Amino acid sequence: MSALRAVPIPEEAPKPQTYTAKAYAAQSPTSSMAAITIPRRTPQPKDVQIEILYCGVCHTDLHFAHNDFANSIPTTYPCVPGHEIVGRVVKTGNAVTKFRNGDLAAVGCMVDSDRTCESCREGEEQYCASMPVLTYNGPDKHLGGVTYGGYSQSVVVDEDFVLHVPKNLNLAAAAPLLCAGITTYAPLRRAKIRAGQKVGIVGLGGLGHIGVKFAAAFGANVVVFTTSANKTADAIRLGAHEVVNSKNDAEMQKHAGTFHFILDTVPVQHNINPYINLLKRDGTLGLVGAPAEPLPLEVFGLLFGRKHISGSIIGGIRETQEMLDFCGEHNVTADVEMIGIQQINQAYDRLLKNDVKYRFVIDMASLK
Ligand SMILES: NC(=O)c1ccc[n+]([C@@H]2O[C@H](COP(=O)([O-])OP(=O)(O)OC[C@H]3O[C@@H](n4cnc5c(N)ncnc54)[C@H](OP(=O)(O)O)[C@@H]3O)[C@@H](O)[C@H]2O)c1
Ligand SMILES: [Zn+2]
Ligand SMILES: [Zn+2]
Repeated sequence: MSALRAVPIPEEAPKPQTYTAKAYAAQSPTSSMAAITIPRRTPQPKDVQIEILYCGVCHTDLHFAHNDFANSIPTTYPCVPGHEIVGRVVKTGNAVTKFRNGDLAAVGCMVDSDRTCESCREGEEQYCASMPVLTYNGPDKHLGGVTYGGYSQSVVVDEDFVLHVPKNLNLAAAAPLLCAGITTYAPLRRAKIRAGQKVGIVGLGGLGHIGVKFAAAFGANVVVFTTSANKTADAIRLGAHEVVNSKNDAEMQKHAGTFHFILDTVPVQHNINPYINLLKRDGTLGLVGAPAEPLPLEVFGLLFGRKHISGSIIGGIRETQEMLDFCGEHNVTADVEMIGIQQINQAYDRLLKNDVKYRFVIDMASLK
């Protein structure tokens, strides 16, 4: 990954006017999240200003707040995380065509990209050759410095990076779809998961629990691998057909050579080799968790069976809308625990202890 740094605004570019919004930020890798006031640009011709109603709490927020990715994408402080944003449009620029005041609107992990590279032209903006502009900690080409995310009263985003939320979905429970949802939907779709295939989901957290719902909705035989014995009943309720304690070698071994696809959502260094052993010939271990440390690989595990390891990040704007529409049709949302923004530090502590059922969502009305 190329290093992302705040870019200075060119001298000649006039800075847009700004207004202020309340937000919560980390001021350093070790500080707690605390209240702050941030500038937002007033909507430019193609911009949509969204009053944020709900914002999901992704483990990536915690990685960035703690500067876990110092070697690849260092955090610029203050850091206002949050990229699972659902809200209502309150202002639009005069060239906006897709949104009107009062519409529901959502924003995920990206707010812009170069729009010209091969990936952007193919609708895969998340793989933009110039790096997509992340919703937070990305270079803000309008105001300079870095972008600020959804732990905030409002956000201003080019309409090309704003999504429509199906009206039938519970809004708070839909917020996590904007990251956890698309991150699990995209690799399962790309692997063409269908009825009869055996799919594993490693880690029953925010990503994992939505991954279970999608894999089950696509008709797969779903097995959850967990380190938390107390999550078994929930895994079954969420749609898993079987639950394996990943710390128990005998339980793991029973599934050797049987999986078409295994989606690994674990956020820390762990041993992936036992999962490669569980794949069928030509099976794939898809990594979406983002441990900061390298993962040791036993190459022979891949050679015998022509197996694959793949990785992916989120999804493009077109696919994110497709995922939201799928969720609208099939009534897929996250299982959420609502918090006020004042509880964000306790929520981070609980995420670090795998104690999440199964996504914290901040009710932004709490940010007064
Ligand atoms: N690729 C992408 O585009 C993308 C997008 C979003 C997030 N991410 C990354 O995906 C990861 C997961 O995010 P999340 O929000 O789902 O996190 P989360 O809610 O904290 O869930 C992670 C789960 O992983 C399992 N786990 C934790 N520590 C483990 C360990 N030492 N060994 C084995 N399993 C462990 C736990 O499940 P059990 O209790 O069931 O074991 C935990 O609940 C993070 O690294 C995040 O940055 C990547
Ligand atoms: Zn995320
Ligand atoms: Zn691009």
